[in-house]
Amino acid sequence: MPKALRIIVAEPIGFCFGVKRAINLAKRARRSHSRVWTLGALIHNPEVVAELRREGIRKVRSVRDARSGALVIRSHGCRPEILKQARGAGIEVIDATCPYVGRVQRVVSDLKTAGYSVIIVGERNHPEVQSLLGYAQDAGMVYKPHMKLKARKIGVVAQTTIPLKAFQTALADLCQGDFEELRVFNTICAEAASRQAAALKIAQGVDLMVVIGGRNSANTSRLADIAREAGKQTYQVENQQELNPGWFVPAHRVGVTAGTSTPSWVVDDVLAALRGRLTPTGEPGELAHPHPRRATPDARTFGVKRRASLSASGGVSRDRISNRRCTTNALRS
Ligand code: F3S
Repeated sequence: MPKALRIIVAEPIGFCFGVKRAINLAKRARRSHSRVWTLGALIHNPEVVAELRREGIRKVRSVRDARSGALVIRSHGCRPEILKQARGAGIEVIDATCPYVGRVQRVVSDLKTAGYSVIIVGERNHPEVQSLLGYAQDAGMVYKPHMKLKARKIGVVAQTTIPLKAFQTALADLCQGDFEELRVFNTICAEAASRQAAALKIAQGVDLMVVIGGRNSANTSRLADIAREAGKQTYQVENQQELNPGWFVPAHRVGVTAGTSTPSWVVDDVLAALRGRLTPTGEPGELAHPHPRRATPDARTFGVKRRASLSASGGVSRDRISNRRCTTNALRS
C-alpha cells in the first residue's frame, strides 16, 4: 500500500495578537458606525480584506478619502502627523496600532528626544518602518549594509517582524562604525519570532514546505525565505486553489505554516485540500495526528505533531543581542 502524504502543521500558525486585535476593533466600530474606513489594507491578506469589504469596512489611501464615520489605523501604525491629521478631520479615529509597534514608536521618539540618531533595521517601504521614520523625524535612517555613521550617539531598533539573524547581522556591521555610544533595542515581536522559529524547525524535518499567506505580506514571505534557506523546496500560496498536485508525492512529508495575517479558514481550506484531494495518485494526505480541532477562532492546532512549539524557548529574548554586543538600556519598560 502506498504511503500517505504526511502533513505537519506549525504551531503557532496564522493570526497574531496584533492582527486579531485590529480586526476586532474594526468590526466593533462597524456596529456603531455606518461607515468604517481603514487607512490602507487593514492586514496584508486579500481574503480578509474582501471579507471586511463585504461587511462595510473599506480601505482608503489617505485621511482625506474617509468622508465620515470611523477611520481605523492598522496594526503597522502610521506617522504621527497622519494620526494628527486624522484626529483633526472630524471623524472618529480608532488607533489599532499593535501595542508592540507602539512600543517601538515610543522608543524611537525617546531616542530622538535624547539626541540620538536612530537607525531602523527593516524594510524601508514597509508601513511600520515608514511610521517609525515619522517618529524619528530628521534623526531617522533605515539601515543599509556598510552605511557610514556620522553621528556620535546612535540608537538602533528593529522592525518588529524581521528575523533575529538579520538584526544580529546588521548590529555586527554597525559595530564596525566610528561612534561614541550605540544603544540597541531588540524590538522584534515574540509572536513573529515564534512563527519563524516554528517554520525553521518544521522545515528541517520535511521534504517540502507550503507557506500560506498574502503575496503582499512581508512576514509570510519571510517564513518562505526561512524555509528556503533551510534548503527545502518551498511554495507560497494565498489559498488552496493555488496548490498544485504535481508538487506532492504520497511519501512526502509536507510542512505547513502561515503568516501572521493569514486567517484560520484559509489554513483550514489548504489543509483540507492537502488531506483529501491533492496527491497525484489520489492517495489522501494525513495529518500527523489527524483530529483537527479549533483552539481559538483564528488559531487552530489541528491536533498535529508539535514539532515547533510555542514555548518560551522558541521566542526571542529581548535583551539577548544588546547584552552581547552593545550597551543597551530600555528607555521605558
Ligand atoms: Fe503586533 Fe507582532 Fe503581530 S508586532 S501585529 S503581534 S507580528
